[in-house]
Amino acid sequence: MRLILLGPPGAGKGTQASGIIEKYQIPHISTGDIFRKNIKEGTELGKKAKGYMDQGLLVPDELVVAIVEDRLKEDDCKDGFLLDGFPRTEKQAEALDESLSKMGVSMDKVINVSVDKNVLVERAVGRRICKDCGATYHIKFNPSTKDGVCDKCGGALYQRADDNEETVTKRIEVYLNETQPLIDYYKARNILVTIDGEQDIHKVFEDIVAALGA
Ligand code: AP5
Ligand code: ZN
Repeated sequence: MRLILLGPPGAGKGTQASGIIEKYQIPHISTGDIFRKNIKEGTELGKKAKGYMDQGLLVPDELVVAIVEDRLKEDDCKDGFLLDGFPRTEKQAEALDESLSKMGVSMDKVINVSVDKNVLVERAVGRRICKDCGATYHIKFNPSTKDGVCDKCGGALYQRADDNEETVTKRIEVYLNETQPLIDYYKARNILVTIDGEQDIHKVFEDIVAALGA
C-alpha cells in the first residue's frame, strides 16, 4: 500500500504512523525525522535544514524532493510505503507524481488528519519523545507511566526544539498557507480520505484502518 499522511503540526501523524506501518508492514518515511537525524549527526544536510526548522519554516523544496526521490528508489519501498510530512507544497506533490510515474506506480490513499487549530498548540507543546526508540508521548493526553521515562524502552524523554509556542504557531501558519491546498489537490484525484483527528488516539486509528478498507 502506498500512503501519504497529511495534516497540520501536532495532528497526530507520527502517532498514527507507528500503528499503520506495523499493520501494513510498510516503511515509514518521515521527512521531519530524516532532517532531525541529520542535524543530530551534524551532516551537511542537517546544517542546511536546521535554520529553517528552528524558525518553523519549510526546508526548500529542492532539498526535500531529492531526499524523498532517493529514498523511494530503495528496495524496501517496492511494495509500498507511508510518507509522513511529505509532500508539503504543491511543487513537492508534483515532483512526487513525477517520481511515481517513473516508477510506474501511483498512490493508493492520502489520509488527511483533521484537527482544529486551537488544539494543535497544546498538542505540540506537551509532546515528549523517547531519545532511544522515538516513541511519542503527551504530558496530558498520552503520558508515560513514569515521569520523563519511556514505557517501551526506559529511555529518557525530551522535547523537540521546535515545540515551543512561538515556533508551533509559525508552523501552523505555514501549514495553512503552503500545505492545506494539497487537500484539494488530492481530492481532485479521488484518493483523499479525511479522518477526525480530535478523537481518542485508538479511535483515530480505527477510522484510518476502516478508510483503507483492509
Ligand atoms: P515534522 O517533523 O514533519 O513535524 P510536523 O508536520 O510539524 O508534525 P509534528 O511531528 O509536529 O506532528 P504530528 O502530526 O506527527 O503529531 P504527533 O503524532 O507527534 O516537520 C518538522 C519540520 O521539518 C518542519 O517544520 C519543516 O521545517 C521540516 N520539514 C519536514 N518535512 C518537510 C517537507 N516535506 N518540506 C519542507 N520542510 C519539511 O502528535 C503530537 C502530540 O499530540 C503528541 O504528544 C501526541 O502524543 C499527541 N496526540 C496525538 N494524537 C492525539 C489524539 N488523538 N488525542 C490527543 N493527543 C494526541
Ligand atoms: Zn523508548
